[in-house]
Amino acid sequence: MTDVTMTVNGKTVKKPVKGNTLMTEFLRETLRLTGTHVGCDTSQCGACVIHVNGEAVKACTMFALEAEGAEVTTIEAMANADGSLGTIQQAFQDHHGLQCGFCTPGMVMSAAALLKDNPKPSEAEVRDYLEGNICRCTGYHNIVKAIMAASGQDVSRIAAE
Ligand code: FES
Ligand code: FES
Repeated sequence: MTDVTMTVNGKTVKKPVKGNTLMTEFLRETLRLTGTHVGCDTSQCGACVIHVNGEAVKACTMFALEAEGAEVTTIEAMANADGSLGTIQQAFQDHHGLQCGFCTPGMVMSAAALLKDNPKPSEAEVRDYLEGNICRCTGYHNIVKAIMAASGQDVSRIAAE
């Protein structure tokens, strides 16, 4: 076991980990931050997306030791300080961007990364960016709508589905 130190959602954590401990396992089992979901463990579904030093990363594709010294943000930090839903989360609720909710943490984290780099994405850009996030329930339409609404764009022209 080797100690790893990183900042997770603004708090410094230092924990012993094995060399092969995945970031998903570290967040969910060591830190009990279970909002980061594991849908495939093979880098395909996007349910495990977190931010590492401001970049969207699939947490199942990195070892915890690789996050040494990093600033990590998980879905648990996406709510407002008073516990109410953050802007993107609220938009998902308002526009029915989720059904079972399994993919939602990864979708929200990917959306946040997209909007940071591209504050007013087109529908095509949102769809393109979400290529690495799989949803088995919604058909994506309302997720795209929610992300565009979260960016402050008028989504009334996007038909309901
Ligand atoms: S669990 Fe990481 S991409 Fe599916
Ligand atoms: S809402 Fe069920 S997988 Fe996306």
